[in-house]
Amino acid sequence: MNLIGAAWQPDASGVSPKQQSSIPPLRLNDGNEIPMFAYGLGTANKKNDGAPLDTDLIELTKKAIDIGYRHLDCAEGYGNEEELGAAVKASAVPREELFITTKISATKKQSTFEAFDASLSRLKLEYVDLYLLHGPWFADSEQELQQRWADMEAIRESGRAKSIGVSNFLQEHIEVLLKTAKVPPAINQIEFHPYLQHLDLLVFHRQNNIAVSCYSPLVPITKATDGPVNQLWDQLAKKYGVSESEIGLRWCLDQGLVVLTTSSKPQRLQKYMSQLPCFKLTPKEVADISELGRQKHFRLFWTSFFAPDDRR
Ligand SMILES: NC(=O)c1ccc[n+]([C@@H]2O[C@H](COP(=O)([O-])OP(=O)(O)OC[C@H]3O[C@@H](n4cnc5c(N)ncnc54)[C@H](OP(=O)(O)O)[C@@H]3O)[C@@H](O)[C@H]2O)c1
Repeated sequence: MNLIGAAWQPDASGVSPKQQSSIPPLRLNDGNEIPMFAYGLGTANKKNDGAPLDTDLIELTKKAIDIGYRHLDCAEGYGNEEELGAAVKASAVPREELFITTKISATKKQSTFEAFDASLSRLKLEYVDLYLLHGPWFADSEQELQQRWADMEAIRESGRAKSIGVSNFLQEHIEVLLKTAKVPPAINQIEFHPYLQHLDLLVFHRQNNIAVSCYSPLVPITKATDGPVNQLWDQLAKKYGVSESEIGLRWCLDQGLVVLTTSSKPQRLQKYMSQLPCFKLTPKEVADISELGRQKHFRLFWTSFFAPDDRR
């Protein structure tokens, strides 16, 4: 079992990673377990309103489940909850073995309960494992943010979302929630890679026992290429006999963070699943990547809400 505070320890369960066939889950502050490695249906697979059912995405998602992915990340905003639901239905893996996340829009003013009902109905599921506020920007006041969180608590109480959390929240947003929350967020899903380490946001989460999940972990090889970490990622890939993508994913896992990725290529998804449990970066390698990464700043998502030099 991984624990939120157990960053950079050889392994929280005391088992050498080389002896593992899978990555141990993380225990959240509400007692539920979350698989540390997820397949996401955004943003590359985003579907516009009114577009027909994406059968290729259903097939790919079903394949991801077949390969071993159990944590599946979706959102109202991706427009493909129906596709995720269809893949889950078509898969032979029982629902209770899957960990399914969806999110309510980051920007839309709407009823939380209606949005949640609509998500469940598109997913054709009785419950989700994790329901997230996709972002704080729908709210014009602290009260509006706190009210939505109270709605989320009511949804959790109903049993239709096992855990609740947030995404793209800064420390200041979480502090607003915590002023009135009965149940703290279990997790904050944020863009996280060497070029966006968010100053001391991770420390804040550890102090408050809130887990962190990382999206866009591969920015240094997808969008901000030729940056300061590339040479080291390449050297480490050779050392461990894996690809640079796996070095990027392991850098998150080895800091005790849940990591989300996606791929259009089942072969790549398969390699991640078989290779990621079999090696681990040393604490020095993790620290070296972090140090090099801090030489550059790059944010891929939600840029209209942040100043270009805002590293929070
Ligand atoms: N909460 C939020 O606001 C938010 C925002 C964005 C994303 N997310 C979630 O996070 C998930 C992952 O985000 P992401 O897609 O940005 O993650 P990512 O892991 O950084 O990027 C995935 C992409 O990397 C490419 N890739 C992998 N290895 C590569 C290599 N060696 N060279 C070139 N390209 C390579 C893959 O392409 P191939 O298809 O060729 O393999 C894939 O398109 C999403 O699916 C979504 O569920 C959440």
